[in-house]
Amino acid sequence: MFRDGKTEKISQVINAVVNDHNNCQRIVAKPCLPISKQDLWLRFLETFKSLTGKRLINDKQTKSNLKVLFYYFLRDDDFFTCKNLHADISKPSFDKGLLIIGATGVGKTDYLKVFEKIFIEFHQYRFKGENSNDLVTQYETCATPSDKELFFRRHQRKRLFIDDINSESIASNYGKYDVVGNILMSRHEKKLITYVTTNYLTDEKSLTHTLEALGHRYGFRLYDRLFEMFNFIEFHGKSYR
Ligand SMILES: Nc1ncnc2c1ncn2[C@@H]1O[C@H](COP(=O)(O)OP(=O)(O)OP(=O)(O)O)[C@@H](O)[C@H]1O
Ligand SMILES: [Mg+2]
Repeated sequence: MFRDGKTEKISQVINAVVNDHNNCQRIVAKPCLPISKQDLWLRFLETFKSLTGKRLINDKQTKSNLKVLFYYFLRDDDFFTCKNLHADISKPSFDKGLLIIGATGVGKTDYLKVFEKIFIEFHQYRFKGENSNDLVTQYETCATPSDKELFFRRHQRKRLFIDDINSESIASNYGKYDVVGNILMSRHEKKLITYVTTNYLTDEKSLTHTLEALGHRYGFRLYDRLFEMFNFIEFHGKSYR
């Protein structure tokens, strides 16, 4: 803050400092990606190519599935009007994470991996991706209680992506343990942002039935919390495999 050579009362100076401080807090609470939509798109294309070795097929299906993610990460209000965002089931918010449901091969894993790589250089957006089965294996190899504690602490980072939830087996390490369910419960409690993907879990490819199936798998307490934790997004279309 500059005083521009003007004479100001000390109370004015203090107010200005407090306002500056409040503005900073707002910026910290709601970070904006310091790049434009166009720049993010170019980075996405380049990173998709370097990760998968293929050019992105930018057809109608891809555009529609990617649009909602771009608006979400850019905190663009057009996010709230995306057709594949289920605003009727869970109130959309940039302060919630993402639960992406879709058929196999539509890009759920690779798109999130691309964003993970792009965001390495943006501290406020950086997230770590884990596959649900790898989490179970990591837990099963914990030899001591302190290893387990370390394992859970590692997954309390600010933003975490867990790919393919529900596909993991129940962990066995001196007793049966639901690793992913427990990580999600703890992340809800700590208000941490989580991104997850899952396939449709019923034959009729229904989002609500899939949510119910997740409830059966992880229990009603977590089912109830899913609505507070996530924006529900559905990826439509055919497999690119
Ligand atoms: N728009 C696209 N253009 C080109 N290739 C794509 C596109 N989207 C996805 N792919 C490719 O299709 C394959 C399947 O994508 P991905 O593994 O991300 O799907 P998924 O939805 O996670 O599937 P699953 O449910 O089986 O895990 C990958 O090889 C991926 O690179
Ligand atoms: Mg996948």
